[in-house]
Amino acid sequence: MATEIIELLSSREIAKMRSAGELAYELLNYLEPMVKPGVNTLALNDAAERWTQKHGAKSAPLGYHGGGQVPFPKSICTSVNEVICHGIPNARQILRDGDIINIDVTVILDGYHGDTSRTFFVGTPSPVAKKLVEVTKECLYRGIAAVKPNARIGDIGAAIQEYAEPHGFSVVRDFVGHGINRIFHAPPQIPHYGDRGKGKKLRPGMVFTIEPMINEGTWEVELQADQWTALTKDRKLSAQFEHTIAVTESGVEILTLPLKATTH
Ligand code: MF3
Ligand code: CO
Ligand code: CO
Repeated sequence: MATEIIELLSSREIAKMRSAGELAYELLNYLEPMVKPGVNTLALNDAAERWTQKHGAKSAPLGYHGGGQVPFPKSICTSVNEVICHGIPNARQILRDGDIINIDVTVILDGYHGDTSRTFFVGTPSPVAKKLVEVTKECLYRGIAAVKPNARIGDIGAAIQEYAEPHGFSVVRDFVGHGINRIFHAPPQIPHYGDRGKGKKLRPGMVFTIEPMINEGTWEVELQADQWTALTKDRKLSAQFEHTIAVTESGVEILTLPLKATTH
C-alpha cells in the first residue's frame, strides 16, 4: 500500500473549501422543495446540474471513476429506500409517498470540493423511516462533536456506533468518510464504526467528510450490476447524512453549512 499522506490545508485553502461547501449546502436547499411524490430522480439530477453550472461550479460525480471504477454517469447521487448510496438518477424512477431519498451532491468550485448529503422524506414517512432518518442525522452530529485536535479517528466512529446500535440499527462498513480537498476522495478514511482512542490523531488543517450510512436491518451491502448502486442485502431501509468538516485549533468547523450556523 502506498504511503498515505494526510494533507493539512492552509487557512486560504480552507476558505476555498468553505465556499465550495456553502455552495453544496445551497444546492441541497434548492433541491429540497422538488422532493415530492411524482418527481423522477433524473429531474432532480438535471435541475442540480443546471444550478451548479449557473453558479460557476462543476458536478464532481459526473464521469467520476476514482479507484478505476466505471465512470459515474450522472451529476448527483439519489439513493431511495433500500439504496445505501451511489444511486443513479433515472427518469423511470418516480418518487412515491412514504419513500426516503438521500441526495448526495459534490460541487467543485475554484478547484476545491464541497460534499454533503441529506435524507429527505417524500410525503409522509412510516414510523420506522422517520426514526431511522432522525437517528442517522443525530449520528452525523455526534460524529462531528467527537472532532477536535488530538482526538482520534476512532472516536468519530465510536460516537456514531454507540448511538445507532442501541436504537436497533446497524452501521454500514463498506463505505466511509474521506479526506477531501482538490481531490474528491483523499486519505484518511473515516469509518463510521470503531473504537475510541484508536486510529490516527486529528490535527488542525485536516479536512474530511463524515457521512454515516445507517441501516434498519443488516449492514451488509449488495452491489447492483451497474457497479455503483449499493443496496442493503435484506432490502430494508438505509439513511445517510454527510458534511465536509475541518479540524480547527479549537475544535471543528462544518464547511457545508453557512459560516456561524451552529445548529442543525
Ligand atoms: N458524494 C459521494 C461521497 O460522499 C461520492 C459519490 S461518488 C459518485 O463520497 F461517483 F458516485 F458520485
Ligand atoms: Co463523501
Ligand atoms: Co457525498
